[in-house]
Amino acid sequence: MGNSSVDLFCGRTAGRTLLAACLGVLFACSAWAAAPEPVLSELDKLTSFATERSENGGYLSELPDGASFGIEKTIAFEENNHFVYLGGKYRAIIYVKPSIYIYVDYTNIGVTENSNFPIKHCGTIADGGLQEQTVKKADDQVVLSVEDSSRSIRLTLPKAPGAVNTATITITDAEGKKLVDERLLPSGILPLGEGGARLLAGWDRAYQNERRAAWDTRRPSSNLVAAVESEAVKKGRAVVLGCGTGTNAIYLAKQGFKVTGVDIAPTALKIAKEKADKAGVKVDWALADVTRVPAMEPFDLVFDRGCYHGVRRGNAAGYVATLRQVTKPGSQALILAGNANEARHYGPPRVKEEEIRGDFSKDFDFTWLKESHFDSFDESQTGPLSWSILLKRK
Ligand SMILES: C[S@@+](CC[C@H](N)C(=O)[O-])C[C@H]1O[C@@H](n2cnc3c(N)ncnc32)[C@H](O)[C@@H]1O
Repeated sequence: MGNSSVDLFCGRTAGRTLLAACLGVLFACSAWAAAPEPVLSELDKLTSFATERSENGGYLSELPDGASFGIEKTIAFEENNHFVYLGGKYRAIIYVKPSIYIYVDYTNIGVTENSNFPIKHCGTIADGGLQEQTVKKADDQVVLSVEDSSRSIRLTLPKAPGAVNTATITITDAEGKKLVDERLLPSGILPLGEGGARLLAGWDRAYQNERRAAWDTRRPSSNLVAAVESEAVKKGRAVVLGCGTGTNAIYLAKQGFKVTGVDIAPTALKIAKEKADKAGVKVDWALADVTRVPAMEPFDLVFDRGCYHGVRRGNAAGYVATLRQVTKPGSQALILAGNANEARHYGPPRVKEEEIRGDFSKDFDFTWLKESHFDSFDESQTGPLSWSILLKRK
């Protein structure tokens, strides 16, 4: 397939007015009658947010009103130092701070030629006006390159809406230095506000240098291997919550499971994807908060090593609700968590037996709840005391 240019957004007059006009026309032409018209004040909100942020270091503490942008229901959101991503089923806005907006539209607007090409409208608004952008097509992806005087933004977007796990963003400065190394855009709503951005950045930092994170043994979990080999868990579709660099997700894929790995740390997922590619296995990777995952078909198996025990401290109910959402009656969940009976003063977060029973008893039967140990880096050493929890959905 060859290159083509996107069909609107050019000119250099007063940015806001022209933007309003363009978006107005865009939505007036929409065949999607239910789509509300975008309201300029919403873009103002984002712009003033950017200004405020640079003045006060603040972050959005609630989801922007997606309906004003024609995004009926926000299904994906992330804000970090560099960009805000607001995604719906058919439309998405990527606001690269402080002044670039990229508007992606998958609806059937203005289809003339290339009707198999889903993105009809995208453009950027730099300070002072709108700029036409070039969209390059690839077989199963759309590559969008956007530049202003100081940065270059590269987006790869899926050809069809919904396949959000494959959308990536890279931001490079004028000298070619990566400001945002290529990484997934979010699926699901990531934690909001300054605290949320800090949480994500904190986990991500653990994966950003060569020294491996304390828990990252780079060997499949011995508890998981034993459960698979003894057939205590049945093969099928599996999701790994808090999958880190993907070792266990890749192991499951090699065993014949169809696997999705979910984590909040973009760098972990980037490493995971590279490892899966190298191993020649297919895993779907989703950048998402395990307490607000995107809609997914229920899985036969959930595996979690070391995510539940941390997440439950802030939002046990959210984790349990997700476990219910991603399973169906008969589905299994194998969860490895820190054990409150551990005598050592250091190690992962710990959970008491009664807390585990309190969290899961309503929706799940316990196939087992037994003491075990986490694997450690050094295979000859015993890791921290853990719980091995095998659940079956009622
Ligand atoms: C202790 S690490 C374990 C990683 C991996 N399971 C392993 O065994 O190597 C916990 C993982 O959970 C992820 N995590 C923490 N909170 C999360 C959340 N709310 N949503 C998604 N992932 C989260 C972290 O980024 C990290 O990769």
